[in-house]
Amino acid sequence: MKIIRANSYQDMSRKAANLISAQVIMKPNCVLGLATGSTPEGIYKQLIDWYNKGDLDFDRVTTINLDEYVGLDHSNEQSYWYFMQKHFFRHINIRPENVYVPDGTNPDAERACRAYDYIIQRCGGIDLQLLGIGVDGHIGFNEPGAAFELGTHKVRLQESTIQANKRFFAHEDEVPKEAYTMGIKTIMQAHKVLLCASGTAKAAIIREALYGPVTPQVPASILQMHPDLTVVVDHEAGACLPEDMD
Ligand code: GLP
Repeated sequence: MKIIRANSYQDMSRKAANLISAQVIMKPNCVLGLATGSTPEGIYKQLIDWYNKGDLDFDRVTTINLDEYVGLDHSNEQSYWYFMQKHFFRHINIRPENVYVPDGTNPDAERACRAYDYIIQRCGGIDLQLLGIGVDGHIGFNEPGAAFELGTHKVRLQESTIQANKRFFAHEDEVPKEAYTMGIKTIMQAHKVLLCASGTAKAAIIREALYGPVTPQVPASILQMHPDLTVVVDHEAGACLPEDMD
């Protein structure tokens, strides 16, 4: 595990974007596992900037997103599909056919999730998986107690996650209660994992995830077992980490 400290959200975003850029430059046809939430917004902004400067080319890149709310279609501004278009895809030269987000409109959970696992397999797996972390330690939408050995599956969101994510919705009642998420097994199969965290609210869970016991109660704790994990934290999110990490 490599922990990189950044001194601000912007610095965290630039450092993480640098690592993603390196992946795209080293393997132009790579498969990126992508995340939503406020943490990666700055990363996408930085990547767009470098794309506009001609430093990055996404023509041969494939992206596979972690998760999607059940019941929200592409036109819904709160869907993760919409988020990704708005914050990243519509600003770069990625091919629409190379972009994957779980189909939240498919009411047949079994079919939707198997289809997604098949897509990941057909793409040859994920080269680099970008992750944020929920205040309860969730990654993707794998909530505390999630089995480590699952592929894509339907989850019921924890109350704390609904509370944390309600800021994106007009009213709390509009926050979907269920989501389809890539499972921890799939996340752990990514060749590289890049976990990013920003802000005081993430400080305690980042320490618990990286230095506490590996337990399904803290889904992100399994990342300690990943052979190629890089963590980028800003000053606040890294506040509870031990000093001598290098
Ligand atoms: C959501 C997403 C996660 C994300 C988490 C944290 O629940 N499903 O992938 O990591 O929110 O979001 P934020 O970065 O806004 O704190």
